[in-house]
Amino acid sequence: MKNLKTGVVGLGRLGRVHAHNIRYQIPGAELTAVCSIVPAELEYARSELGVAAVYADYKEMLAHADMDAAVIVTTSSEHCWQIEAALDAGKHVFSEKPLGVDAAQCKQAEAAVERHPELTFMLGFMRRYDKSYAYAKEKIDAGAIGTPYLVKATGIDPEALVDGAIRFAKNSGGIFLDMAIHDIDLMRWFLGCEATEVYAMGATFKHPEFRAAGDDETGVAVYRFENGAMGMIHVGRTAPYGYHVETEIVGTEGTIRISAVPEKNQARLYNQNGVCAECVGSFPERFAEAYLTELQEFVDCALTGRAPGVSVYDGTKSTAIGYATTEAWKTGAPVKILP
Ligand code: NAI
Repeated sequence: MKNLKTGVVGLGRLGRVHAHNIRYQIPGAELTAVCSIVPAELEYARSELGVAAVYADYKEMLAHADMDAAVIVTTSSEHCWQIEAALDAGKHVFSEKPLGVDAAQCKQAEAAVERHPELTFMLGFMRRYDKSYAYAKEKIDAGAIGTPYLVKATGIDPEALVDGAIRFAKNSGGIFLDMAIHDIDLMRWFLGCEATEVYAMGATFKHPEFRAAGDDETGVAVYRFENGAMGMIHVGRTAPYGYHVETEIVGTEGTIRISAVPEKNQARLYNQNGVCAECVGSFPERFAEAYLTELQEFVDCALTGRAPGVSVYDGTKSTAIGYATTEAWKTGAPVKILP
């Protein structure tokens, strides 16, 4: 079978991970072009990844590069138009989450995907491809915990990276749209139905800069789902010990906990401080394998015509729920989520 010739747009924090994986680690994929508006990133692609076809303009890349697929890892506000342009140019598309930053944009991307049923589209909800989350989903579907009725999700970034979060707070869309989107997708996936109502609040105790930027340092949201199940999300930016992602699904016959201790590995350090398990440090470290598995899935789907497990509709739904959560946080009132 021929390789999937792939162009990556956006070579920032995550773009480099995806580009590196495509270049060196994904069988069936070939990195044939890259695009970024940052010249240093293009230089990195030339020197570190050995890519000759580098572009500062995305439309130029689509028009001239030798590529079957586009992997979009740009700033979130750019995703939707870039998805549409790539599909209309006949390329398969993998886009990072979130699908878009407002409902109208998401609908535009949805329409483009529907216009091109011959092409593969996949959204980067990589937690679904993490071994532990995939295992939990399999167990739930097999009835191992009976009927799931509550999902509790925690996602707290390491305080070591808080300066970057403060810098981006003004334009991030707020803590729920910026951080909770993965947890929102997982709740829908595990419960197998949609959220109908949300109540949310936030607080800032350590870094008043978040409040000054119209954001909060910590957010908590509670959801009702259409079958009566419930969800709880706790997101934050100031875990002093590392990167804390934890999920618990409670059912009528049991509970599944994923990363109840967000440990770096299975080693324990025994010394005068006691017995210590170091915490995983960052998202690229925690989800390194999931980033590989999801892109392998995209490449396999594009090459074989199989439909990927994450669709454009998962993107639209999660974004709509993220918006409703943001409204609930800002107004302090419960918000109904329209079907
Ligand atoms: P970043 O700010 O480090 O990098 C963004 C890149 O996009 C930069 O290289 C910039 O030059 C490029 N870019 C922006 N507009 C462009 C345009 N019009 N044409 C070409 N290049 C353009 O951002 P980061 O953290 O890498 O995030 C990128 C995307 O990935 C975001 O949408 C973010 O939400 C998502 N993300 C997903 C994660 C996950 O776990 N699935 C984790 C981190 C980010």
